[in-house]
Amino acid sequence: RVVVLDFGGQYNQLIARRIRDLGVFSELISPSVTAEELKAMAPKGIVFSGGPNSVYSSQSPTCDPEIFNLGIPIFGICYGMQMISAHFGAEVERAGKREYGKAEVELVSDSLLYRGMSREQLVWMSHSDVVVAPPEGFSVDGRTLSAPVAAMSDPVRKVYAVQFHPEVQHTENGTEMIRRFLYDVCKCVGNWSMETFIDDTIAELREKVGNKRVLCALSGGVDSSVVAALIHRAIGDQLTCMFVDHGLLRKGEADSVVRTFSEHFHMNFIKVDAQERFLSKLEGVTDPEQKRKIIGNEFIRVFEQEVKELGKHQFLGQGTLYTDIIESGTDTAQTIKSHHNVGGLPEEMEMDLVEPLNTLFKDEVRRVGEELGLPKEIVWRQPFPGPGLGIRVIGEVTEEKLMIVRESDAILRAEIAKANLEGEVWQYFTALPDFKSVGVMGDIRTYAYTVGIRAVTSIDGMTADWARIPYDVLEKISTRIVNEVDGVNRVVYDITSKPPSTIEWE
Ligand code: XMP
Repeated sequence: RVVVLDFGGQYNQLIARRIRDLGVFSELISPSVTAEELKAMAPKGIVFSGGPNSVYSSQSPTCDPEIFNLGIPIFGICYGMQMISAHFGAEVERAGKREYGKAEVELVSDSLLYRGMSREQLVWMSHSDVVVAPPEGFSVDGRTLSAPVAAMSDPVRKVYAVQFHPEVQHTENGTEMIRRFLYDVCKCVGNWSMETFIDDTIAELREKVGNKRVLCALSGGVDSSVVAALIHRAIGDQLTCMFVDHGLLRKGEADSVVRTFSEHFHMNFIKVDAQERFLSKLEGVTDPEQKRKIIGNEFIRVFEQEVKELGKHQFLGQGTLYTDIIESGTDTAQTIKSHHNVGGLPEEMEMDLVEPLNTLFKDEVRRVGEELGLPKEIVWRQPFPGPGLGIRVIGEVTEEKLMIVRESDAILRAEIAKANLEGEVWQYFTALPDFKSVGVMGDIRTYAYTVGIRAVTSIDGMTADWARIPYDVLEKISTRIVNEVDGVNRVVYDITSKPPSTIEWE
């Protein structure tokens, strides 16, 4: 494996992503890791990520200096390069001119990472500090107009560093540079794949669970289905799957989940009807974070109560993904939203967690699902958040508003399917803002709700762009929603990307 020390940069997950795509397991770890701890993990290489700080500020994160003496190859990116420079005694200064976006790097050496590439390289820059001169023992490998040291290396100590971001697509040869670091510098073997992940995880699950029982929270979504299938393969009938209908599901979803799982899986399967319980807890609550926490808490309470009747289950299986963990805030990354699977957990929970997908990105989970032989309609189902329609009704959740979201969402899904756009749009749904506006229908003034359509393209949900759905399809959707859904007189289309927005509205 190769570890990425996370100094808080916005592209850090992408670094781990690229490395995994190149066949090497990679994860982000806190920069407060000690050299001893790191040695015990025995990584083949270490990446220092980018980050928002300046190395010359006293508040900036650094790492244990002993890490430089472990003899493990190091690759510094952006802030990571500045930290390496500062460690080895070079000067880092505020740049005369900041560089954001595309830039041209002139390669000036024959370093292993760039050998044979053309001298002019298109790269992606995002920095305001520069290394003025390389530290002793380092050679300058590349420069730009405003960064005299845009890339540098010391092959003897096996330390490589770049000011630009090789992990983003805009850096033309970025992936190749990372590949060379992994294979030519770190001598990685490259055997990380979904099959090895499944074998390793099954062995770990058997070891961890022993002859105890696991309860799986099944929502019918990709993540929890894959978790259930994976745990089932590992421990068979020691697994019980529980599906809680919290009343915040899409139209027809509860029935379809029950059908799919009782037909396709031969698992212990229980359905719990808890609609009223959730709705009464949400009454009068408008704050999104509070709603998320209430729904998350209530889930666990329902489980605990049901488990009492089922007999002891020592473990709770959950489909928490790597992205959920990162977005819920690591040491250096800011909290954006408390993801239901992470932030909502009550501290005094009586069961231990089993989260076998928590090192995976969404598309990796899908590959695991296919590998496990799950049906296509489950594996390729669009993501649906744990708190369900509860966070698609903005403000207080009521039966009336849920009905509007459910019906409008069903129309949207039907029209997207009719237009054969299901494969192109990564996620699409409707949201209901908490306001009314004036309209006119059949010569009568209306004062009714606005439905928002959100449709995005994405790979892993970390970043997203709004989908370019053809106008005539949008028109059809809009017309049908206003005509068929009571209480709606206006439809709007969300044309913001993530960032700066998020995919869900709450
Ligand atoms: P955001 O809104 O954070 O969403 O851009 C990114 C992806 O995550 C889904 N999402 C959730 N999934 N529990 C989940 O399991 C949650 O609490 C949650 N919140 C958002 C969202 O639908 C999108 O695919």
